[in-house]
Amino acid sequence: MEMAPWIRVLMFLACLLFPASVECMVRHYKFDVVLEKTTRLCSSKPIVTVNGRYPGPTLVAREDDTVLVKVVNHVKYNLSIHWHGIRQIRTGWADGPAYITQCPIQPGQNFVYNFTITGQRGTLWWHAHILWLRATVHGAIVILPKRGVPYPFPKPHKEETIILGEWWKSDVEAVINEALKSGLAPNVSDAHTINGHPGPVSSCPTQGGYTLRVKPGKTYMLRIINAALNEELFFKIAGHLLTVVEVDATYVKPFKTETIVITPGQTTNVLLTAHRGAGKYLVAASPFMDAPIVVDNVTATATLHYSGSLTSTATTLTSPPPKNATSVATNFTNALRSLNSKQYPANVPLKIDHSLLFTVGLGINPCPSCVNGSRVVASINNVTFVMPKISLLQAHFFNISGVFTTDFPGNPPVPFNYTSTQLTNFQTKQGTKLYRLAYNSTVQLVLQDTGMITPENHPLHLHGFNFFEVGRGLGNFNPKKDTKKFNLVDPVERNTIGVPSGGWTAIRFRADNPGVWFMHCHLEVHTTWGLKMAFVVDNGNGPNETLLPPPSDLPKC
Ligand code: C2O
Repeated sequence: MEMAPWIRVLMFLACLLFPASVECMVRHYKFDVVLEKTTRLCSSKPIVTVNGRYPGPTLVAREDDTVLVKVVNHVKYNLSIHWHGIRQIRTGWADGPAYITQCPIQPGQNFVYNFTITGQRGTLWWHAHILWLRATVHGAIVILPKRGVPYPFPKPHKEETIILGEWWKSDVEAVINEALKSGLAPNVSDAHTINGHPGPVSSCPTQGGYTLRVKPGKTYMLRIINAALNEELFFKIAGHLLTVVEVDATYVKPFKTETIVITPGQTTNVLLTAHRGAGKYLVAASPFMDAPIVVDNVTATATLHYSGSLTSTATTLTSPPPKNATSVATNFTNALRSLNSKQYPANVPLKIDHSLLFTVGLGINPCPSCVNGSRVVASINNVTFVMPKISLLQAHFFNISGVFTTDFPGNPPVPFNYTSTQLTNFQTKQGTKLYRLAYNSTVQLVLQDTGMITPENHPLHLHGFNFFEVGRGLGNFNPKKDTKKFNLVDPVERNTIGVPSGGWTAIRFRADNPGVWFMHCHLEVHTTWGLKMAFVVDNGNGPNETLLPPPSDLPKC
């Protein structure tokens, strides 16, 4: 429904007086990035935060709103902030990945991220997009539907954000720097967190946990975000089923589940009905890892607390799934379907212009200075991505040559039995290679895990777009057989997808957003090792299909 002009004028005036009100169409936020002392997990190491909060402040907006976030860097690190899942149509300059769409904000400098939220509503999140700073620099983005537009499910009594994280006792920058020097894997985290708290853990038994307070009979919507650096997680609440209604800010066909599985980067909205009369119930977040990889195996716990229940009431416990519970994860993933209603259709591209096959996995390259004379690397189609010195988007927009090439291979250079353990390791190529797409062209991309060192899950995140997951399977992708089973009717639409360990997933998207768009594994350790690439999407016709010019305060390198 269109708003009458006089209402717009009134609202504009009201917003000048009360800029933080939820009814303003332009929302201003200020993010002061500061070093903060905490006492979590019985340690008092300082952490990098936004506005002194961990997790950081929630950004609330409505579909169609314009958001302005002034980020002021008060710490000693270069940084940039990414609005994970926001499509940034024609505003790639505000996307945030350092050296991809902008140079980082240097210590003492600031930058205003300016973007409009178009065609999206639901839960997303923001995080630092440089080095490993996102471990503590992250928060929720809540996008409410347009005014007067209801959710496609009964309105919950209340909404809560639940941010899952990972905690290191030592400085995360030191952890990754040490690993890069040695060529070995970095130390795993010491604990997981739920809204910043691990709950009591053996290394710090006095540590308190987060409490979710509920009233008997009411329904709550939990906006769950996996902000962990390196681990996919299970999440469950004792004695209660969760009804999944949305993932990555797109509605899904509701279904009930005991456990959700969520990769780093993903968001999941669930409805929780407080159908028990009273009591305290355990909430648990624990790792999912079905490959022989070491993970932090500490379960984070929180409490669901019915109002009126005395604190002495026994907590009803839950046992999280074992960390290798592949079937729990598969059942959950297979249940996800786009809502695909008249109002929220699934516009799956049916005619494909680019059919791509990308292998994603780890490898080993020689490294004379490393501990074993070799280092772990990661690659896509055998290319280990090298970060440029200035941002790719600037190089693209201003036609600066020598920064990147557009010869990213659309297929693996050598076909092999991808998912078996390899006898020989292919040394990866280094390069800043991009894949070029014409405006509005359509892409089918099969992401194929490799067993080069060992098969492993890879949550792949694509910036600038949502995609549809049209198929997934184990083993090597077979174009003849597997394409026949694709779901082109109501596949789930999202921005981050877990490539199954020793398997593949096929996604489709339309390149209707001009700019340079990063794609990478959202396990931060794999991104660091080079499991990343970017698409460059050319302008289409006319201003609506053309990348805007850069803002005047865009940071310099
Ligand atoms: Cu949430 Cu490029 O990341």
